[in-house]
Amino acid sequence: MPRLAVIGFPVGHSRSPAMQTAALAELGLADEWSYGAVEVAPEGFESKLHELAASGYAGLNVTVPHKEAALALADEASEAARAIGAANTLSFEADHSAADDVEVRPWVIAANTDAPGLLAALPASPSGARALVLGAGGAARAAVWALAGEGAEVEVWNRTASRAEAICAELGGAALGAPEQASYELIVNTTAVGLRGEDPFAHLPLAASAFGPGQTVVDMVYGERPSALLAAAAAAGAATVDGLEVLVRQGALSLEIWTGREAPIDAMRAAARA
Ligand code: ATR
Repeated sequence: MPRLAVIGFPVGHSRSPAMQTAALAELGLADEWSYGAVEVAPEGFESKLHELAASGYAGLNVTVPHKEAALALADEASEAARAIGAANTLSFEADHSAADDVEVRPWVIAANTDAPGLLAALPASPSGARALVLGAGGAARAAVWALAGEGAEVEVWNRTASRAEAICAELGGAALGAPEQASYELIVNTTAVGLRGEDPFAHLPLAASAFGPGQTVVDMVYGERPSALLAAAAAAGAATVDGLEVLVRQGALSLEIWTGREAPIDAMRAAARA
C-alpha cells in the first residue's frame, strides 16, 4: 500500500493531509493509498527521507524548511526544481537496474509544483503581462521562475534590495525600488507580511487605494481569510487569488505525479478550506 505524506518542521498546521486524503477518497484510491504528516527537524531530514523511501512510501510533499535539502538529496530533478533551487515534491522509485541480490535504496526524483501551481491558480495566463513579485525568498523564486517562463514582464521588489537583485540576476526579471502599483496586471505577494496580522500597507510598497479592476492580486500568505491585502484588492475591483488556492493547485499537480490520475480539484479545494 503506497504511502504519501507532507514532511516539514513544523507541519501540524498543514492543510495537505486533509486535502490529499479527500482527493484519494474522491479518486477511489483510499483503500490503497494514504497521506499523512511527518515532522522532522533539519538535522534529521536526510535519515528520515531514506527511512520513508525504504518503508513503502511512494512520495512526499516537502515544505518549510526542507525544500532546498530535498533537492540536494535527490538523485534526479526536474528543470523547474533545479532552476528554482528547491523541491516540494519527491517520488521514490525502486532501482530496477540493480541486481536482485543487491539491496539498493529507492531512486529519489525531485519536482517543483509550486511554480506551475501558481500559474494554474491564476485566472488567466500571465503571458505578456506586467507582473510584480514582492519578496525574495523561496516562494518568490518559484513565482519569478514561473512568471518569467510564461513570458510575463516580471519586476521584483524586496525589503532587502540586494536579495531582489540576486534572484533577478539568476532567474530573470528586473529588481526595483519603488514599483508603480497601478501599472501591473498581476501582483504576487510572497513575503511573510500579514502572517502575524501586520498591516501589509505599512510594510509593502502598496496602497490600498491604488488597486483597480483589471488587476489580479495573489497573496501567498494564508493566515487570516481573506488577508488584509486581498480584502483591499477585492474592494477596489481587482481579482484575487489566495494562498490556499495556490496550495490546492500545487497539491493537485503533486498528486498527479504520484498517481498518474487527474486530480479532483473541487474536492481538494473544499477539504483545504474546511
Ligand atoms: P520564503 O522562503 O517562505 O519565501 P523567506 O526566505 O524567509 O521565506 O523570505 C521571507 C520574505 O518576506 C523575504 O522577502 C523578506 O524580506 P527580506 O529579504 O528583506 O528579509 C520578507 N519579509 C518578511 N518580513 C517582512 C516585513 N516586515 N516587511 C517586508 N518584507 C518582509
